[in-house]
Amino acid sequence: MASIVTLTLNPTVDKSTTADQIVPDQKLRCAAPKFEPGGGGINVSRALKRLGADSVAIFPVGGPSGTLLRELLSQEQIQQHPVETVGRTRENFIVVDDSTGKQYRFGMPGTPLSAAEQQLLLAALQSLPAPPDFLVISGSLPPGVAPDFLVAILRAAKARGTKVVLDTSGPALQQGVQEGVFLIKPNVGELSKMTGEDELDDEAVAAAAQTLVREGRAEIVVVSLGAQGACVVTKDVVDHIPAPTVKRRSTVGAGDSMVAGLVYGLATGLSVREMARLGVACGSAATMNPGTELFKKADVDRLYHWLRQLMPAAAG
Ligand SMILES: Nc1ncnc2c1ncn2[C@@H]1O[C@H](COP(=O)(O)OP(=O)(O)OP(=O)(O)O)[C@@H](O)[C@H]1O
Ligand SMILES: [Mg+2]
Repeated sequence: MASIVTLTLNPTVDKSTTADQIVPDQKLRCAAPKFEPGGGGINVSRALKRLGADSVAIFPVGGPSGTLLRELLSQEQIQQHPVETVGRTRENFIVVDDSTGKQYRFGMPGTPLSAAEQQLLLAALQSLPAPPDFLVISGSLPPGVAPDFLVAILRAAKARGTKVVLDTSGPALQQGVQEGVFLIKPNVGELSKMTGEDELDDEAVAAAAQTLVREGRAEIVVVSLGAQGACVVTKDVVDHIPAPTVKRRSTVGAGDSMVAGLVYGLATGLSVREMARLGVACGSAATMNPGTELFKKADVDRLYHWLRQLMPAAAG
């Protein structure tokens, strides 16, 4: 199998709990908290592990929460390449109100990275024994990190023959695609910001993705469409994949799970159409679990099997 490295510039420890009812001014009694590693690339590594693929996760860590993040990843047997930072790793807070079942997600500002720390992260990538076949860069940029840094990483990776999979948003995505990557997975909102067009219907989604491919921004564009599935576009393929109807519990982590499915497909040599179906299967399987939980492998297998049956016989 091809080698995979994930890079998470803005990792977190997700702390989740439940309360009987969320009301102001009163002390709220919460259940014992659950701690989970979080951040785009880290979630992709965790999801890849469930699919049976190893990857190396590179990320900044600092303070006691950074130590906890490393411990949690060790428990999941994720290979790590942490880079120590002065700032402490952020902790996000998620609480479910049991009376309504509603989930409240409190996102903390990311941990700033100094210029020197950014250089250490770049050096970590370049000091790997061999350049990886695939580099997955996923999640937001923390405070103090300019999109230029992302561009520097993309250039360094591409110079060593590594194919980059990019899943981020805003100016980072904008500048990243300007530089050109192998695969991007925008959702519709991210795609419309990239192309400057407001309401994108199915046809417009495919056309916008085709424009990105034609302009050399990415070789493969997978636009995720939430409950509508996804649209995959390359220079030879335009394919719409419906999402299976599932019992939806929480969509948290659907995007990261989908990226893991796509990368697993790339690393194991699936065709573009099959890869996109595996991505959709992973994304939809993730929505079947509550809270921040990713997917169960058995759900992925079942949904992927179902989606493959819908494939036209001639399509590779
Ligand atoms: N309600 C749903 N029902 C079935 N599948 C879903 C649903 N929502 C998401 N998915 C699956 O997850 C994939 C990714 O979802 P989505 O398009 O919401 O990504 P995203 O906006 O990047 O998510 P995230 O908020 O995790 O970054 C979809 O392509 C689909 O396969
Ligand atoms: Mg996303």
